[in-house]
Amino acid sequence: MKLKTSLFVFALCCAAALHAQEIVIPQARYKTGDKPEWKNNVLDDESWISLDTSREWDFQGIVDNEFGYGWYRMRVTIPSSMKKADVLKKALLVDLGSVDDSDETYFNGKRIGKTGTMPGDPEGYKGRSGTPRRYLASPFLVHWDGENVIAVRVFNGGGRGGIFGGPVRVRMATVADMTEIAFKEEDRHCSVSVSSPFKFKGSLTLRGLDLESGAVIDGGSTTEGSLQVPCDPGRPVQWTATFTEAKSGQEAVKSFIPKYILTPEAPKSPRYNGPLVFGVRPGSPIILRLAFSGQRPMTFAVEGLPDGATLDAREGVLGGRVTLPGDYPLTLVAKNAFGTTRQTIRLRVGDKIALTPPMGWNSWNCWGLSVSQEKVLSSARALLEKGLADYGYHYVNIDDAWEAEERNADGTIACNEKFPDIQGLGEWLHAHGLRLGIYSSPGDRTCGHYLGSLGHEKQDAETYNAWGVDYLKYDWCGYAREFAKSADKSVASYVRPYLKMEEFLREQPRDIFYSLCMYSKTAEVWKWGHAVDANSWRTTGDILDVWGSVCNIGFAQQAPLYPYSQPGHWNDPDMLVVGKLGWGETLRHTRLTVDEQYTHISLWCLLAANLLIGCDVAQMDEFTVALLCNNEVLAIDQDPLGRQARPVIVDGEIQVWSRPLADGATALGVFNLSPEVRKVDLVRYLSQLGLSGTLRDLWRQKDIAPGESLIAPHGVKLLKIK
Ligand code: GAL
Repeated sequence: MKLKTSLFVFALCCAAALHAQEIVIPQARYKTGDKPEWKNNVLDDESWISLDTSREWDFQGIVDNEFGYGWYRMRVTIPSSMKKADVLKKALLVDLGSVDDSDETYFNGKRIGKTGTMPGDPEGYKGRSGTPRRYLASPFLVHWDGENVIAVRVFNGGGRGGIFGGPVRVRMATVADMTEIAFKEEDRHCSVSVSSPFKFKGSLTLRGLDLESGAVIDGGSTTEGSLQVPCDPGRPVQWTATFTEAKSGQEAVKSFIPKYILTPEAPKSPRYNGPLVFGVRPGSPIILRLAFSGQRPMTFAVEGLPDGATLDAREGVLGGRVTLPGDYPLTLVAKNAFGTTRQTIRLRVGDKIALTPPMGWNSWNCWGLSVSQEKVLSSARALLEKGLADYGYHYVNIDDAWEAEERNADGTIACNEKFPDIQGLGEWLHAHGLRLGIYSSPGDRTCGHYLGSLGHEKQDAETYNAWGVDYLKYDWCGYAREFAKSADKSVASYVRPYLKMEEFLREQPRDIFYSLCMYSKTAEVWKWGHAVDANSWRTTGDILDVWGSVCNIGFAQQAPLYPYSQPGHWNDPDMLVVGKLGWGETLRHTRLTVDEQYTHISLWCLLAANLLIGCDVAQMDEFTVALLCNNEVLAIDQDPLGRQARPVIVDGEIQVWSRPLADGATALGVFNLSPEVRKVDLVRYLSQLGLSGTLRDLWRQKDIAPGESLIAPHGVKLLKIK
């Protein structure tokens, strides 16, 4: 902290001096393609175009460089006066910001770093978009007071590409640049250690800030390089480690908040956590698992079942078909050794489904193209075993890569060898009150280059019905080629392929949730999604498990979209990025901090967003289960009024988002978008909004007195005012 404050003061008072220490490179020469000699200093790049180094090339007119290379070249004069700032006499730091997706960076012709791999590499392509790109160049490589060339070879594996998050900067490395302070958290054992390739000597001190009481905690000090960090799963505590290098006195500082669980433990007696209203079309099969938590065994009864509806009393699954439209109040009764609970919900038999946003799981953010039936089943089982199904997570959606290489001779679609019995999978899911989801594209190919539905829409809709599919994610992707061929670029030409599939889906004798995946900004799908009777539509490109992505998608991109969301038709800001993810064979923990995860879930619930878990449920830890299974938080997402939140106060980096609820109360999210702990005055915000009444902390599930409150970096207070 100290270091940051002093830097800030320094920046205010000595801007000129700071300028001399850091060179900002806002523009670079750019060329699409790939030639080894483009790394060399001697090269005529005058005819290359000029690009901004802080935004991906897609925003600057390079729109067709998908799965391709591009090179950036920057010429920079580095004054020898910069050497004076080189306290460490070690190295020059080249900070690119980030790169989408892989890069190889050269300084005066010599490679100084590489992140991710490229298709020509022995291991094949692996992108690392979003991770920082900071490389070191030896001072011996630098042409002091002369021209230097930084050349960056970029490979874009899909979507956006290029250098972003900058501008590119060059300065002498400091102790902070050259030191890694690493917090480790494993099974409730936390530690912090400091390391540097330069083997610095110095002291490491640790200080804690209890974010609920405001108390400061002394965590000790050492010259040995590592310390134990107390990690209490019941309280949010921010630990700040400061390393002070002995010779220069320069500091490196890093803060960390160990996992803490806010969701209270569920009672052993039955508790209903599901939606209060459920829509089904007349004559369509009802598949509804009664979402009660509590100790098993549990038995179920339902009062007021209309003709045609059935109950599996042991499994707690409503089934059957009701042909007569109507609004049927059902009293659900769940009983176990600890008590009996009754809950009234409404079964609405009519022309609308998805009266609350869909909840469940999707294979993409974990398994990517490596998905298999076995992996899907494993997550489905875990939804049941870990109790997530008792909170309403019922859809089990297979994303791309289930399709066979070729269609059957009669033109019908088939599964590849990784899915030996999709119909059997559907039957198993339905028997447990879960639902089956699938993925396709209106184009000839999907994003993963599998078969799409173009020209086979009717057949595919019929096959989905035969397999027992309850959810279709229909992804624009390969249709971009059809779109490019046609001169018609009107909104109608975006709508057409989606309308076509809708027609055939609706002919099927079952309810198939229709999820549009359409991310072209010009298409503005939220304005016409309901016209193709879509139940949800993606409002953004693909989400990543980094703050920049969650923050940009969740706050900036959703803010103007609240008028378009309503029961039956939801904005979809993409799937959840908590738990173990990987978009492929190997999984790792989400890169979001614990508070970024609380913000992600709180915001998605306020947004009335689809809640599709993106991680492997079988490997889900206790923290993530608690994060996803807070009934009061989920009740905001599932609120029957279905009104999406919007920002009502923007106070610097604090944003307050609010949505009205069916019971007359208001849900509020107070978000701290800054990377520092912030103190907020809830009384002031409430009076600004003209709100008064009982204030409830939804994560803690307890009433609180309004007052001042500390909010973690990128963290949230989720409240309900009644
Ligand atoms: C993308 C889509 C992802 C995933 C992927 C599959 O276009 O946005 O969510 O479905 O395709 O290839």
